[in-house]
Parts: sequence; C-alpha cells; structure tokens
Amino acid sequence: MVRTTKISLAVAALAGALSFSSIAMAADPHAAPTPDRQSWTFGGPFGKFDQAQLQRGFKVYREVCANCHSMSRVAIRTLADEGGPQFSDAQVKALAAEYKVKDGPNDSGEMFERAGRPSDKFPSPFANPEAARASLGAAPPDLSVIAKARSYSRGFPMFLLDAVIQYQEHGADYIYALLNGYTDANDPNWNAYFPGHKIGMAKPIDNGAVEYTDGSPATLQQYAKDVSAFLMWTAEPKLEERKKTGLRVMIFLLILAGLVYFTKKKVWANVQH
Ligand code: HEC
Repeated sequence: MVRTTKISLAVAALAGALSFSSIAMAADPHAAPTPDRQSWTFGGPFGKFDQAQLQRGFKVYREVCANCHSMSRVAIRTLADEGGPQFSDAQVKALAAEYKVKDGPNDSGEMFERAGRPSDKFPSPFANPEAARASLGAAPPDLSVIAKARSYSRGFPMFLLDAVIQYQEHGADYIYALLNGYTDANDPNWNAYFPGHKIGMAKPIDNGAVEYTDGSPATLQQYAKDVSAFLMWTAEPKLEERKKTGLRVMIFLLILAGLVYFTKKKVWANVQH
C-alpha cells in the first residue's frame, strides 16, 4: 500500500514537472524555435569533413564574416592540416601573406605591421571588442569555437535520444538556421532563431554574395551550409580523429567482452552451481 502511494506520488511529480516545463517554455518571450536538424557529412560515428565544403566555407568566412568577426584561436597553418580544408602548403603561405599582422616591439620599441605567416593566428578586424561594439552597435563574438559554444541541449527526453543516436551537430544546425532566419523583409535585425528575435547582426549574407569556382550553387542556403561546416571544423579540428578512435575503442571493447565471456565460461565449467 505504502509502496503504491510512493509510486503514484513519483508519477504525479514527474507529470507535474513535465507540464510545468512545457508551460514555462510556451510563456518564455525569448524562446526561439529549435533549429531543424541538417544532414552533415561529419555526423554519426563514421563522420568525416567534406574537404571541398570546408574550402568553400572558408571562402565565405574570409570574404564576409571576417569583416566583423575575429577567429583568434585558429592558426592560419591549420588550413593545410589533414582532416581540414587541406589547402596546399603553397596556398596557405600565399593566403597568410595577404593578411597584415601587428608585431613587435622592434629595436626602437615600436609595434609594426608585417605580412602574415602561416604560424600566425587569424588577425582580428577590430583592435578589441569595445572598438567592434562602438562601430557595429554590438560586439560580434569570436568565431573560433562558436559551433561548440552555441550547441544546446534539446531538453528531456530528447537529450537522452541524442546521446544514443550520436547527434552532436546542434551548433552547426543553429548557425545554419540563424543565417537563414532573417525572415522579416522589413526588419534586417529580426531573426527567427535568435533568442528574443532582435539580433545586433543585420542579415550578413544573401544569394550571390560569394563567387564559387567549383560549380556549387551561389545561394544563401549553400553559403550557410558551407560556413557552418567550416565553423564546426575550427571548433573541433580533430573530430575525424576522435570518431575514428571511438570506433576502434568500441571494436576493441566488443572483442574484449567476447573474450571475457568465454574465459568466464571456461573458469566456471567444472564448478557445480
Ligand atoms: C557587419 C558585421 C557582421 C558580419 C559581416 C557578420 N556578423 Fe555575425 N555578428 C555580428 C554582430 C554585431 C553580432 C552580435 C549580435 C548580438 O549579440 O546581438 C554577431 C553575432 C553572430 C553570431 C552569434 C549569434 C548568437 O547566438 O549569439 C554568429 C553565430 C554569427 N554572428 C555568425 C556570422 C557568420 C557565420 C557570418 C558570415 C556569414 C557573420 N556572422 C557575419 C556582426 C557581423
């Protein structure tokens, strides 16, 4: 009797918590819709970055996003890394030289500008976040790890499912949705996916803004997809390695589990039980 009361109490509490959380969600004026899940080459246990997509995404970043956003944790040389955009060393050297980097102090104690080198981090478009805020009205966040920083949990019970189906691309889905979320033609700062809907970044990119040389469509959707993939790579450059190691570990554990099972059978074979 006592036990059934306890169980029914627990069920009632759970139901209460669930209905409360859905009411709280519905009433929150800042709640934004959950971004749709996109299909990415780097999703799932066998995920791999698409090299051509990363190269296109880098072009979008360089020609559009880099005018406002810094990416100060990423070294230019990593563009040649395996599992990344994999530009050739010569291409990366030429790319780096196009940047102006502040260096110094020199022998007379002054800072000076020089051409970039592959070992430099990407230089920032503004001297500091305050200067960016003064010029743009809001400080644009550094994009180095934004795809991880804007990851989110889908809440109970979906986050449990996400762990099972290995859904880890929430951040990339959010960036994709954000860039496609300027759906009010009269207000360039209205965004369907930004919490509160008023974003300090006016629609940054539209159809035809960047020229692709590999025949991919020059559309907003394609740009958003490519730059989101690129930002996923900057946030987790070792993703492919991590997934490969994970797979090897799982195979090892399976074999080990089999061996342990047969060992147990053999050890206990002659014991009466
Ligand atoms: C004209 C300047 C400008 C350009 C160009 C620009 N951004 Fe932004 N971005 C901003 C500002 C300013 C903010 C901060 C907005 C805020 O906090 O309200 C921002 C915020 C963001 C955010 C964070 C949103 C959040 O959830 O907090 C992301 C992601 C982002 N930008 C991605 C991009 C990408 C990708 C590009 C290139 C396609 C790009 N931006 C181009 C100015 C810019």
